[in-house]
Amino acid sequence: MFKLLAFVLLATLSTCSASNLPIVDLGYELHQAISFNSAQGLYNFSNIRYAAPPVGDLRFRAPVAPARNRTKVQNGTVGRVCPQAVPIWFQYIEPAFLLSISEGTQFNLSTNISSYPYVPTKPDPRTTEDCLFLDVVVPEKVFNRSRSSRISSGKSLAPVLVWIDGGGFTQGDKTQLNPSGLVNRSTVVGDGVVFVAINYRLGAFGWLGGHTLMANGTANAGLHDQRFALDWISKNIHLFGGDPNQVTVMGDSAGGGSIMHQITAYGGQNGTSPFQQAIVQSPGWVPTPDDKQPEQALQQFLKLLNVSTIAEARKLSSKKLIAANAYQIATKPSWGEFVYTPVVDGTFVPKLPGQLLLEGRYDHNLTVMTGHTSNEGIEFTSPDSRNSSTYLATLLKKSYPSVKPNVSSYITDVLYPPVYNGSHGYNSPFTRVAVANGESAIECNVDYLNWAFGNQTFAYEFNVPPGLHGLDMLYVFYNKGQSADDGDLPGLKVQNETVALIVQDYITSFAQFGAPKSALGPAFKRYGPQNMVLNIGNHTIGPMRDTTNASRCHFWQTAPYYQ
Ligand SMILES: *[C@@H]1O[C@H](CO)[C@@H](O)[C@H](O)[C@H]1NC(C)=O
Ligand SMILES: *[C@@H]1O[C@H](CO)[C@@H](O)[C@H](O)[C@H]1NC(C)=O
Ligand SMILES: *[C@@H]1O[C@H](CO)[C@@H](O)[C@H](O)[C@H]1NC(C)=O
Ligand SMILES: *[C@@H]1O[C@H](CO)[C@@H](O)[C@H](O)[C@H]1NC(C)=O
Ligand SMILES: *[C@@H]1O[C@H](CO)[C@@H](O)[C@H](O)[C@H]1NC(C)=O
Ligand SMILES: *[C@@H]1O[C@H](CO)[C@@H](O)[C@H](O)[C@H]1NC(C)=O
Ligand SMILES: *[C@@H]1O[C@H](CO)[C@@H](O)[C@H](O)[C@H]1NC(C)=O
Ligand SMILES: *[C@@H]1O[C@H](CO)[C@@H](O)[C@H](O)[C@H]1NC(C)=O
Ligand SMILES: *[C@@H]1O[C@H](CO)[C@@H](O)[C@H](O)[C@H]1NC(C)=O
Ligand SMILES: *[C@@H]1O[C@H](CO)[C@@H](O)[C@H](O)[C@H]1NC(C)=O
Ligand SMILES: *[C@@H]1O[C@H](CO)[C@@H](O)[C@H](O)[C@H]1NC(C)=O
Ligand SMILES: *[C@@H]1O[C@H](CO)[C@@H](O)[C@H](O)[C@H]1NC(C)=O
Repeated sequence: MFKLLAFVLLATLSTCSASNLPIVDLGYELHQAISFNSAQGLYNFSNIRYAAPPVGDLRFRAPVAPARNRTKVQNGTVGRVCPQAVPIWFQYIEPAFLLSISEGTQFNLSTNISSYPYVPTKPDPRTTEDCLFLDVVVPEKVFNRSRSSRISSGKSLAPVLVWIDGGGFTQGDKTQLNPSGLVNRSTVVGDGVVFVAINYRLGAFGWLGGHTLMANGTANAGLHDQRFALDWISKNIHLFGGDPNQVTVMGDSAGGGSIMHQITAYGGQNGTSPFQQAIVQSPGWVPTPDDKQPEQALQQFLKLLNVSTIAEARKLSSKKLIAANAYQIATKPSWGEFVYTPVVDGTFVPKLPGQLLLEGRYDHNLTVMTGHTSNEGIEFTSPDSRNSSTYLATLLKKSYPSVKPNVSSYITDVLYPPVYNGSHGYNSPFTRVAVANGESAIECNVDYLNWAFGNQTFAYEFNVPPGLHGLDMLYVFYNKGQSADDGDLPGLKVQNETVALIVQDYITSFAQFGAPKSALGPAFKRYGPQNMVLNIGNHTIGPMRDTTNASRCHFWQTAPYYQ
């Protein structure tokens, strides 16, 4: 049992605080809650520093602990968002394309990314390289208990739910989705969770790789940020009423992809994970096992900065780096790509996570819930594939430059043949590519987890139309009376409030009791030998056989497209 050494000061005892909100002593600093939502009974600790500013010589390196600063009580009034970047295809072309699909109208925009002028978007005023901060939201009851029983035992500490946001490893931040509804629901299902959301570095700031960087920096700095934040939670969360031995880490898209990397971190050879459970939703990234792509991205980035070494880049102003990152990511990637993504680095990421899961090199001692939507691939599939049966072959060559011709033709002729009668899970050239994209980059990742954890996972498929990537997040982060729009899915809203509440029940009961349940919804059974998933629809929820094509996933898991 850990000891509850540090203690919470009452704001009333402190001379330097501006309000009566509670203050937590983190040792290196004192942090006061920024607000108390009395309607929902939630304390809001905002913008807590968990690492030193990753600037100057600390750029492109693993994070380090913050310096001591107890001269003032911190209250997190200054918002913190890591520098963002959005690819042109994602920002301008894809939303119009999705709209044309959902409304059945003609799509007539150019898909030539170079034909769009680059217009820098006005950055969020909270943007700063000094962004390694996290938020803690605690139900009052949970927070109070931690104070009253702090000397006796850790028994009354509450489970912790940690959110890692998504956004293609180039966008997003901890405040993107409001957790109030979810946290509030946790107090209906049980006594409630302590909710934590973390920032991690994005784009070139967090995801540089390649041998040049690794000679004088750390690849996958963003994964190290997440790990550092999770270690911070292990060490400090009891001060907020949270139990470091009951931590569930949850994330969607790049957040889910990050969690797969955390589950397989160091090939499972670096001690106990700083979490015990994971909810991995639509995990995705672009597999990059060799040096070529990250090295190319790094050289391109240095060129934009007009320097030739990492050391020189560390000396430049924040403004310059932020602008180069935004420009590179907006203009350079192909459809479906974001330039930066986790890379195989030989240490934190010894191989692709799917391979590590296949080889048994991961933390086996975790309880896992998984989820994906019914149409993962559509958002990442170019309109150019619409009338082309050769697009898939071209895409493979582009995405996997070293793919062997016999492997490529196996993918295009045997696994995903151009047969559009529905027998292979698609009915048009476009949906063929979308299914191939969705499976290889997202859906199959979920199966690798289900299998690795002995089919003892709890798995859902989110089938509310149109089943786009990320749609389930509107339900997970549902707030009554407010539209939960994360900006990526304009116009899409929660259709059936009961579905949202049931989803929130499953998540918060899993976090609290290790198994999802809901008084409003059906029993949520394990994946099991029959490979059953919970089918979450607009009108009904119930078990069904996993629809993901297992044999195609077995193929993708071995990553035969490289060599
Ligand atoms: C937060 O701290 C700042 C600076 O110390 C102070 O001006 C402000 O009043 C504080 N806000 C609250 C809500 O305590
Ligand atoms: C300590 O924190 C205060 C309040 O946020 C800030 O004004 C001050 O610059 C910090 N000191 C150092 C040395 O970082
Ligand atoms: C493209 O489609 C939109 C909406 O369907 C329409 O308003 C616009 O006039 C079209 N543009 C061209 C060049 O056809
Ligand atoms: C794409 O647009 C650029 C800039 O307008 C043009 O130079 C290029 O030829 C176009 N590429 C194709 C394939 O049409
Ligand atoms: C929590 O503690 C505060 C201050 O001690 C008290 O005013 C409040 O009623 C308590 N709330 C609950 C739900 O126990
Ligand atoms: C917590 O406070 C921050 C800063 O005021 C705000 O952005 C955020 O929405 C609040 N979160 C909750 C859950 O109330
Ligand atoms: C393992 O974990 C320790 C402590 O968290 C860390 O310092 C070390 O760099 C990690 N790496 C490897 C390869 O073991
Ligand atoms: C690594 O970068 C630092 C600056 O960040 C520089 O001082 C040092 O000389 C570099 N080392 C090598 C081997 O290039
Ligand atoms: C496995 O996890 C359980 C529950 O989190 C924990 O009690 C146990 O110590 C862990 N075992 C190992 C070998 O880490
Ligand atoms: C899990 O299900 C897969 C797919 O049906 C099967 O191949 C595998 O043997 C099962 N694993 C266990 C441990 O039951
Ligand atoms: C979901 O169900 C509601 C209520 O029947 C209906 O209004 C809505 O159109 C449905 N949405 C979808 C996407 O099917
Ligand atoms: C909303 O979802 C619930 C739970 O599946 C279901 O019982 C109800 O009939 C749905 N409402 C509509 C209008 O479809």
